[in-house]
Amino acid sequence: MPNITALATTTEEIVLNQYRTNHTISPSHCLTMQTIEAARLEPGQVRVRNDFIQITAVMADLMTEHPGLPMPPYALGTPLWGGAVGTVTESAADLPVGSVVTHMSGWREETVAAAETFWPVPIEVLPGAEYVLNQGVTAYHGIVDIAQVREGDVVFVSGAAGGVGSLAGQIAKALGAKTVIGSAGSDDKVAYLVDELGFDAAVNYRTESIASRLQELAPEGIDVFFDTVGGDQFEAAVQAAAPGARFALCGALAGQIDGGDAGSPRLDIMTAIVKQIEIRPFSTFHTPHQIQAWNQHYGLWLSEGKIVFPHTIVNGGLEAAPAVLDGLLLGKFRGNVIVRLDRE
Ligand SMILES: NC(=O)c1ccc[n+]([C@@H]2O[C@H](COP(=O)([O-])OP(=O)(O)OC[C@H]3O[C@@H](n4cnc5c(N)ncnc54)[C@H](OP(=O)(O)O)[C@@H]3O)[C@@H](O)[C@H]2O)c1
Repeated sequence: MPNITALATTTEEIVLNQYRTNHTISPSHCLTMQTIEAARLEPGQVRVRNDFIQITAVMADLMTEHPGLPMPPYALGTPLWGGAVGTVTESAADLPVGSVVTHMSGWREETVAAAETFWPVPIEVLPGAEYVLNQGVTAYHGIVDIAQVREGDVVFVSGAAGGVGSLAGQIAKALGAKTVIGSAGSDDKVAYLVDELGFDAAVNYRTESIASRLQELAPEGIDVFFDTVGGDQFEAAVQAAAPGARFALCGALAGQIDGGDAGSPRLDIMTAIVKQIEIRPFSTFHTPHQIQAWNQHYGLWLSEGKIVFPHTIVNGGLEAAPAVLDGLLLGKFRGNVIVRLDRE
């Protein structure tokens, strides 16, 4: 059996040591790094050493006992899971050593599993293997299938500098939206949206009134609202909606991060009725069709320069990951957040 590195007898992983019982507790407080014996390969399995792992906001929700999400919470005493990119270092299957693959066993140095649970990364068409760690399937599904953005639309994206939002706004623009407006929590992020991601305008929700800025930026109203935040940004969007506006509800970061009812807006029902706003909440289940639809456009749009992959790579190895999740919730990073694992 060929090896590309001397195989270690132990390996490290990050496990949930206690549930996150309220939003004031940093995720890192609930996580421990532990050393375990490296698994031996069974026939049909491969060993994959992780190079990059993805960190997303929903991981903090999955650390609570009852997250109220369409997927199960993390289990106590077991490693967290999440998107990862790695390299096959040992193989007892058809997948050769050296293959670069993506999979869902993040938060650990290495994983051993059946070869068919890993997907090859198309490194020949991507600028870097880490480019597969994006939240484009959700952004594309929300913008294309749910909000049904069309040419000439005025689109407002909340949480626009985050992993999903930063792609959603660019996808809307690539589809011919006339104006794409984003909201974010700092002036730096506002500048980033306009200068680097091609948004037409952006609003700092911490220092400006979303309602009055939307009135100014979209005097005829917004046709589409792609919402990752909820709360008062949703309320402002209802007031700013054009007749027949489509609202694609993706997430409620204000509540997920601040807790309580911060993410739960009051719906001005009369305004919604008069404007006939269509409120369309959605969950993306990453069906083969959804994945394929996004991947086709992602490769094409990247090569045409129509979109960029907004991301932050943090060095520091697996041990850095818990603090990176803390920082993500505090708004420290832009775009999709990825930790690079150390390799000896
Ligand atoms: N429906 C689906 O199928 C689906 C799938 C995937 C994800 N989601 C949801 O999509 C949303 C975005 O996910 P993501 O991974 O891309 O997260 P994200 O946007 O990267 O989340 C982190 C960002 O949240 C923002 N934030 C922090 N506190 C906030 C507050 N009080 N109000 C508003 N924004 C705040 C910060 O940006 P600022 O600095 O700009 O505040 C921070 O950078 C989440 O709600 C997630 O659960 C839904």
